[in-house]
Amino acid sequence: SCSSGRYSYEEYKETADWLRDHTEQRPKVAIICGSGLGGLADLLQNKTVFSYEKIPHFPVSTVPGHAGQLVFGSLQGHECVCMQGRFHFYEGYNMQTVTFPVRVFKLLGVETMIVTNACGGLNTNYSVGDIMLIKDHINMPGFAGQNPLCGRNDERFGDRFPCMSDAYDRDLMALAKQTAAEQGCDSFLQEGVYCMLAGPSYETIAECRALRMMGADTVGMSTAPEVVVARHCGLRVLGLSLVTNMAVTDYDSHEKANHKEVLETTRHRAKDLERLVSHLITKI
Ligand code: 6GU
Repeated sequence: SCSSGRYSYEEYKETADWLRDHTEQRPKVAIICGSGLGGLADLLQNKTVFSYEKIPHFPVSTVPGHAGQLVFGSLQGHECVCMQGRFHFYEGYNMQTVTFPVRVFKLLGVETMIVTNACGGLNTNYSVGDIMLIKDHINMPGFAGQNPLCGRNDERFGDRFPCMSDAYDRDLMALAKQTAAEQGCDSFLQEGVYCMLAGPSYETIAECRALRMMGADTVGMSTAPEVVVARHCGLRVLGLSLVTNMAVTDYDSHEKANHKEVLETTRHRAKDLERLVSHLITKI
């Protein structure tokens, strides 16, 4: 079920070299913005914006709520590069395509990757609008043979069998907690385990119950592949999930997961998440 790697080292390098030729900025931090969370990229100053279709080898995204551009600029005076819109497996891309930008970041000299996403809450102590610091993930597509590192390993990026028990950086988490307290976000900050499913269908009630029993606090359709590839090539990772709806775990409930609700909740708390990330970046 694993496909062989779609890109050669030279292709990642051509993309990174092209970007370096088209901007003077040399960010050490990359941010992948989740559904409806691309507003962060609009906050950047001294922006250089590249539409994905203009960048050699870059895939192009297809979901409403995902702009599809790479934005270089500074947040509070700190240079970063933002993906405004990410690539999802459910769009039909293979895992190497979904994670293509991460290796480009590495070759650009990025050292830290911040990932955000919209997710469903499984933990009954969570509420819609909570921000969850990702402590760990369950990569369900990986269980089913869809790990982005399947195929020949390129040692120039990392080891054949990379460790994942330290996927989410403890020091960055501590920094995020401290920043959340300073920014008045601590009353709705959670810390937990994010479970990725391939999507695009939302979970059945039985699936939500199974995921909860496995130890998942939230569920979504992204992030794990990018984090696996980032850790493989030695990037430090911080993950933040915005709980946009509670997953249904009760047969008497008449709630239904839908993308419109996800986007609406995101609008309400997106500003807090943006503030959190932009202050956090000054401490990295
Ligand atoms: Cl409830 N499930 C999944 N898989 N992704 C989501 C979600 C739920 N809510 C937002 N994203």
